[in-house]
Amino acid sequence: MKQITTLGHSAHTVNRIGLGCMGMSEFYGSFDENESIRTLHKALDMGVNFFDTADMYGSGANEKLLGKAFKGRWDDLVLATKFAIMRGPKGEFLGVNGKPEYIRKACDQSLQNLGIESIDLYYMHRKDPEVEIEETVGAMAELIKLGKVKSIGLSEVDPETLKRAHAVHPITALQTEYSLWSREPENELFGICKELGITFVAYSPLGRGFLTGAIKSRADLEEGDFRLNNPRFTEEAIRKNLEFVDVIDKLAQSKGVTKAQVALAWILSQNDEITTIPGTRKVHRLEENMGALDVELTAEDLAYIEASMPSETIGTRY
Ligand SMILES: NC(=O)c1ccc[n+]([C@@H]2O[C@H](COP(=O)([O-])OP(=O)(O)OC[C@H]3O[C@@H](n4cnc5c(N)ncnc54)[C@H](OP(=O)(O)O)[C@@H]3O)[C@@H](O)[C@H]2O)c1
Repeated sequence: MKQITTLGHSAHTVNRIGLGCMGMSEFYGSFDENESIRTLHKALDMGVNFFDTADMYGSGANEKLLGKAFKGRWDDLVLATKFAIMRGPKGEFLGVNGKPEYIRKACDQSLQNLGIESIDLYYMHRKDPEVEIEETVGAMAELIKLGKVKSIGLSEVDPETLKRAHAVHPITALQTEYSLWSREPENELFGICKELGITFVAYSPLGRGFLTGAIKSRADLEEGDFRLNNPRFTEEAIRKNLEFVDVIDKLAQSKGVTKAQVALAWILSQNDEITTIPGTRKVHRLEENMGALDVELTAEDLAYIEASMPSETIGTRY
């Protein structure tokens, strides 16, 4: 399988499996800074060179964690962070902001949190419904001129917004949820990315952990875990959605690989440019997930997946 790719309209060459760092600071239960830093260092040692964070993960804590872990090693990696989702002093969610003045301030804060002078890939995390995309992307392009950002991306935008944004300034990457239980980007977004030379970055590729088989009931989630409020993780939804895991498990067993590896290899098999950023806080899971690069899914395997997966996922993504 092709292991590296150049992110569209940028000079960044990345391993097709990067590392999502969100869970190291928030959302998926308790975390341990030392374990996270060990995982980040191990990732670099293994050749992982694409790391994903956002200013809102842990209200700045996630960027600061990466700043600490990667001090002096920034040349070895491509760092992506995001702006737009505002948090208050107690972590409360304050809405989405895509206004130029806010973007300039958010960028300076991210640079400070990370301890760097330029962000490799700066994403708009969510679109501000009150601000035209041209205005937001125009402000992002200004940051490139100032040398504070090297390339720009968008997250979770619709096809029309993506096209309008790209007309203002080349978009390097579109980050959107994509996995065996979230396949909507196949309808239109993949085609637009291909046409415009935009790299598709698949987030939550393990279905927030569900597709690995690690979550069989709500009791497997710690109190305070974001997933307990996610419609796909009600007891009823879990019970029905486990049919996805059964199919993955059968294929994994027949190939002598793990379920996480099947889920990731399937994403990479969709086209040669797609890149993904599975999240983990643990070294052993990082090693397991990177092993997906060596898993070849045959045409027969892919046909089995198409024919056997449930036709619908129970519960909306958010
Ligand atoms: N743009 C956006 O709006 C957006 C939204 C969500 C996420 N993201 C980005 O995408 C990244 C990945 O998405 P995600 O973290 O939501 O979901 P994910 O990668 O689908 O799954 C992460 C979960 O799976 C567990 N896990 C990882 N490898 C495993 C394995 N081999 N076996 C069993 N469990 C495993 C992790 O737990 P452990 O940590 O305990 O291993 C974690 O709970 C995030 O870190 C973030 O950077 C972006």
